[in-house]
Amino acid sequence: MRLIIIGTGGMAKNQVDQFTTIDGVEIVGAVDTDATRLAAFADKYNIGKRFLSLDEAISWGEFDAATNVTPDRAHHPTTLPLLAAGKHVLCEKPLAENYDKALEMTEAAERAGVINMVNLTYRNVAPLQRAREMVIAGEIGTVKHVEASYLQSWLVSKAWGDWRSESTWLWRLSTGHGSNGVLGDVGIHILDFAAYGAATDIDHVFARLKTFNKAPGGQIGEYTLDANDSFSMSVDFANGALGVVHASRWATGHLNELKLRIYGERGGLEVSHRPGESELRGCLGEDVESATWKTIEVPPVPTNYQRFAEAVVSGIPQDPNFRHAANLQKVLDLAMVTERERRELKV
Ligand SMILES: NC(=O)c1ccc[n+]([C@@H]2O[C@H](COP(=O)([O-])OP(=O)(O)OC[C@H]3O[C@@H](n4cnc5c(N)ncnc54)[C@H](O)[C@@H]3O)[C@@H](O)[C@H]2O)c1
Repeated sequence: MRLIIIGTGGMAKNQVDQFTTIDGVEIVGAVDTDATRLAAFADKYNIGKRFLSLDEAISWGEFDAATNVTPDRAHHPTTLPLLAAGKHVLCEKPLAENYDKALEMTEAAERAGVINMVNLTYRNVAPLQRAREMVIAGEIGTVKHVEASYLQSWLVSKAWGDWRSESTWLWRLSTGHGSNGVLGDVGIHILDFAAYGAATDIDHVFARLKTFNKAPGGQIGEYTLDANDSFSMSVDFANGALGVVHASRWATGHLNELKLRIYGERGGLEVSHRPGESELRGCLGEDVESATWKTIEVPPVPTNYQRFAEAVVSGIPQDPNFRHAANLQKVLDLAMVTERERRELKV
């Protein structure tokens, strides 16, 4: 697979580190509107072709697929021309800033008949995949209650860099720069984590969002810091279960931590993920009586990057696709409406 990478910022580095380990994947070009970042990235990873615009890359055309690692608001305008050119696309999450754009991208991809996937990274967490299999196999009985959280601390710590001065963080704090805050940024991850793990879909949503004052006048340079920093959400699932989902960038002491607890009528499962560490625990069978939780060993699973490459080569689509991400985007859009109107909405 001849792959080009669009956007050469923080996440692009993670992606290239993964793609370069896959047999048969060749990164043949990189695109960025920032010449300095593009040159540093392409030099570091020894990428031959460099383009300051996507149009130039498409005119050149000598690639099969693209991975779109631009900021959220650039996903829509950059993915549509790739699809029109018949290229397979792995797009970063969220697919777009709203459902209408995400749906337009989905329909364009389906019309083009190309492989379209969204990088919901936590599908790579093996314990999540195993938890889903166990739920589907009926090992915990009907799911009744789900609890999911996504905790980050980058507004508190400088472990990943300083949000007060670095554009990679500042755009995430500004609706004017296309961010839907923590809801748009990691909300889509944790909603997918919860619904995929519990093997059901979200049916109703009610959310509260909060933006905290972080700088004098809520402004740093061109960035108005108005995007939400924390959310809490209650959801109904299609199978009748009730769920609580929350996320924050103010979670001191948690660099990047996802947790999912799934309670069924015959057992419980807990998936935990933090950098370099994932675990599945279960309370099953006779252990239900003594409330004893045990670690469940889980084999590794292929990553989204491996599955995207496999899909492009085989022509057989893989999940999560654009339509799935668009459906999650609908939940995120409705969550924002519920915050304004303070009432639950059907998805
Ligand atoms: N899947 C995950 O776990 C995960 C993790 C981090 C970020 N992300 C997503 O990855 C995307 C990029 O995030 P990031 O942290 O790398 O951002 P970033 O700001 O560090 O990098 C984005 C890069 O895209 C470039 N760019 C902007 N508009 C462009 C355009 N029209 N054409 C080409 N290049 C353009 C910028 O100059 C910049 O170099 C975001 O959508 C983010 O939500 C996903």
